[in-house]
Amino acid sequence: MAHASAPDEDLVVEMDAITKTFGEVVALEDVSLELRRNEVLALAGDNGAGKSTLIKCLAGAHEPDEGTIRIDGEPVTIDSPRTAKRLGIETTFQDLAVAGNLTVTQNIFLGRETVSGPDTLLGVLDKRAMRERARELLEELEIGVDVDEKVANLSGGERQLVSISRTLLSDPKIVIMDEPTSALSVEGAERVLELIARMQRQGISIILISHNLDYVRRAADRIQVLHQGRSAGVVDAENVEREDIVRRMVSGMPDADRTEQPADA
Ligand SMILES: Nc1ncnc2c1ncn2[C@@H]1O[C@H](COP(=O)(O)OP(=O)(O)OP(=O)(O)O)[C@@H](O)[C@H]1O
Ligand SMILES: [Mg+2]
Repeated sequence: MAHASAPDEDLVVEMDAITKTFGEVVALEDVSLELRRNEVLALAGDNGAGKSTLIKCLAGAHEPDEGTIRIDGEPVTIDSPRTAKRLGIETTFQDLAVAGNLTVTQNIFLGRETVSGPDTLLGVLDKRAMRERARELLEELEIGVDVDEKVANLSGGERQLVSISRTLLSDPKIVIMDEPTSALSVEGAERVLELIARMQRQGISIILISHNLDYVRRAADRIQVLHQGRSAGVVDAENVEREDIVRRMVSGMPDADRTEQPADA
């Protein structure tokens, strides 16, 4: 590999100096993010800090105006959700996309159905296979919902679990979750946290966005804070004081302290 400096084997995602504007609005300015292999990295920050915009640049929903992205040390252009998936990146978005009138199986396979038509023998077999695969997947994840149930009949928490399990279908190496516990009961959020831990044990690298700092501190290895479109530092989840995160969320970080990560040569 022809990198000037050897790529860091431990980094699965490197976003470097990302800038993204929407007309006059500067959603992200010079933000860098590093996801280590098999870690849970949380993104924290107030409403409008740029969290969703940042992960959308990784998920192929937005293209950054400036900056570079590397996956496993290789520079990539993620110009569509399809490209992201091809790179092993799966995402559950904040604006949760589950279709209430469809069954759990249909939701899990939404947009991935095999091509044969519904009336052919192949179509019937595909349906049976998808149902079986969905059942297996939910069983593996110890999610006790019926694959034939209409999603409209599930609780918000169960929907979140279905939405997350959906990301695991393609055996991804990176899963991004934008607010997976928002609007969940304590019990529902616990299930999601357990699922995140299980995914991490399976070797997946995870980016978790949440406003709940207690969940974030429990689930994450490191926490990156964004403030008004800029990075306000990365902290160790285990040792950080809640107040430290809050301070960064509310007032950002003085320029002098922003260079916690060694600059690239
Ligand atoms: N598609 C868009 N068009 C115009 N402006 C946008 C768009 N998406 C985001 N923005 C703006 O970019 C900024 C960052 O928004 P973003 O959604 O990334 O914040 P966030 O940190 O995810 O906030 P929240 O915690 O509320 O989800 C905000 O000022 C927002 O209004
Ligand atoms: Mg958001």
